[in-house]
Amino acid sequence: MSSFEPLVFSGVQPTGNLTLGNYLGAIRKFVALQDNYDCIYCVVDLHALTVNPSPAELINGTRSIAAAYLASGIDPVKHIVFNQSRVYQHAELAWIFNCVARMGWLSRMTQFKEKAGKDRENASVGLFAYPNLMAADILVYRATHVPVGDDQKQHLELARDIAQKFNNDYSERIGELGIGIPVEVGDETVNGYLPITEPLIEGPATRIMSLRDGTKKMSKSDPSDLSRINLTDTSDDIAKKIRKAKTDPEALPSDSGGFEGRPEAENLVNIYAALTGTSMDAVLKDFGGQQFSAFKPALADLAVEKLSPIADEMRRLLADPGHIDAVLADGGERASVLAEKTMVDIRRIVGLSA
Ligand code: TYM
Repeated sequence: MSSFEPLVFSGVQPTGNLTLGNYLGAIRKFVALQDNYDCIYCVVDLHALTVNPSPAELINGTRSIAAAYLASGIDPVKHIVFNQSRVYQHAELAWIFNCVARMGWLSRMTQFKEKAGKDRENASVGLFAYPNLMAADILVYRATHVPVGDDQKQHLELARDIAQKFNNDYSERIGELGIGIPVEVGDETVNGYLPITEPLIEGPATRIMSLRDGTKKMSKSDPSDLSRINLTDTSDDIAKKIRKAKTDPEALPSDSGGFEGRPEAENLVNIYAALTGTSMDAVLKDFGGQQFSAFKPALADLAVEKLSPIADEMRRLLADPGHIDAVLADGGERASVLAEKTMVDIRRIVGLSA
């Protein structure tokens, strides 16, 4: 019996500007994984509907994430780049998962609690069911590896729970149809249809924090633009935001053990380390004992050096939206073939077809 082919899947929502957090926590990892895996990278436009963008915002946002993927070095010919809504099987599988996942599981999702706030009665059903669609995104390709930042960890655990419950609920039928594959569940190997996906959350950049508050993550949706570096910021904007970034009056410590109670200082050094691909200790070898007045300009120069080629390339690509749409259409067609293959099996497993 065969086992699951290694396959990478990940997605980014087309809501707001892409931040340095998205780049370092996700997109840069997407680029690196291309050498060793087949990869599918998605612009999750159906997910974006949960925050009610205007149609123009959604159209532009989708193109802009696609442009960021390409500008960062994702190869849409060797791999697949598309927007979610082109492959209706994502929504179809999400419905099936709505009937697998339990209310209790979804009620525990911290992102739902944060986004819904106090007025839960008024939150959309889509916002609540969001993680089921995310599980469908991954499992409609039976992807085995998912690179994400730390904030998506709980959603990926839910995707694993859904795959496990699906495999258990339908194990007899999967066996009858002879389409099971060995899946490891704890120490046991059982015969299942869906893989228990591995999250890829490692490295220094799994959680880039706000420039205004080192205890909050850097986010596209933060009301303060000074809290984040956007991929499309000009060199002047980047320099200004780093100059204005919250810090403390102390000099930088000599090693990374010295950041106790200094989340903002730690975040800036972490960003420097992530941008250069080194460790915080290596950065502190050069900058330990120095004041922020010396470190901030060096960080600003580094961020501009790394990000401006991407921003320039994004602008160039966005000047020709027809080309971006053609890339997404081609990726959508290739993704549809793969997704349909899985859905033919899944429809038989659950009894939607004989
Ligand atoms: P989204 O669009 O919020 O974020 C895209 C990716 O960026 C990472 N990220 C960060 N990493 C480090 N530091 C930060 N401050 C930071 N902010 C964001 C996120 O962890 C994510 O990897 N639900 C997902 C999109 C999605 C998805 C999927 C991901 C939909 N379906 C299937 C993987 C697999 C989201 O909203 O990401």
